[in-house]
Amino acid sequence: MRKELLILFLLLPIACQKETISVCDSEKKLRDVADFRVGTTFDQFRGSLYLYGEVVGEHFNRISSENALKMDRTVLSYSEFDFFPYASLSREGKFNKLQAIHIHPVIWHKQVPKWLPDLPADSLESFLKNYCTKFREYLGYTDLLVVDGIDVVNEALNEDGSMRQSFWYQAMGKDFLTLAYKEFSKLDPAIKLFYNDYNLESNPVKLDAALDLCDWLREQGVRVDGIGMQMHITIHEPSISDMAAAVQKIIDRGYMIHFSELDISLNPYGKYDTATPELLNKQAERYYEVFRLYQEIPKDLQYGITVWGLADPYSWIPDTYARFDAPLILGESFEPKPAYCSCLNALEK
Ligand code: XIL
Repeated sequence: MRKELLILFLLLPIACQKETISVCDSEKKLRDVADFRVGTTFDQFRGSLYLYGEVVGEHFNRISSENALKMDRTVLSYSEFDFFPYASLSREGKFNKLQAIHIHPVIWHKQVPKWLPDLPADSLESFLKNYCTKFREYLGYTDLLVVDGIDVVNEALNEDGSMRQSFWYQAMGKDFLTLAYKEFSKLDPAIKLFYNDYNLESNPVKLDAALDLCDWLREQGVRVDGIGMQMHITIHEPSISDMAAAVQKIIDRGYMIHFSELDISLNPYGKYDTATPELLNKQAERYYEVFRLYQEIPKDLQYGITVWGLADPYSWIPDTYARFDAPLILGESFEPKPAYCSCLNALEK
């Protein structure tokens, strides 16, 4: 069955066109229909689900920390850290019937304290060792939500497959990865360790480099369980056959797969200032394809799908790219969009 994925998805766009845009059975919720974890994010208010936790728990069963655990939030000084947003997200998630939390990210080159990149190499390495140890120890609290997995390193690669010249890499070479995965390998193996990056679904050179990097890490004796494909895609690209080829490659190399930050932009070129029915329907078709593709991954390699934001008004895209967009599956007032229905339909096949 594993080998058939690509062929199936070359045919899918033709096969599913008519069925995708249908009315939702409003009683059905994504979290109940999916037999893998479905997650979202909602933490722009410093690690709190306080306002809309109930809506999150109605549709999803896992929460990813969107911003709450980035170093600009957690690092107070060279040796003082604040992981409370993890506790807060977990407590509120549990209260709102979520089942698990996904930790995103431990190491990234963005959203860090201003002084951090200027540290001398040896101080930066000591800082990182201490940070990973304290973070790992903090995740040991038992009364909180289950930790399903961790994006240990985020976005370490360039588009041409070379290592990104981040301040981490410049100071430590690839040791910054080994050191971090080694520390988190001490956790229960039920907590899956990921390498997370963007464009892996569309850029085979970058995907090959990510897989080689993960193989290399395993050769160093540390644990890496899976690949996070961010999946910030659009209604136009990449093609479903390109995405299927990427997924197939990861399956063949034996890594788990997380569609970790899924959103589907309907206005990538900034041409529109509102979501027309045509755009919403096109977007629904694309969500259908993506969920169908995920459904075909062998169960033991499925970690789940996370959509990057609870509802359109909370998406990162309009802010970051200064344009109108509505890339998520719930709308302005948290109503299920056609995209939500097509995710349900895809999973019910
Ligand atoms: C984004 C958040 O969604 C925004 O709120 C924040 O302003 C910037 O970061 N890749 C990642 C995520 O790995 O951490 C980013 O999240 C989106 C791109």
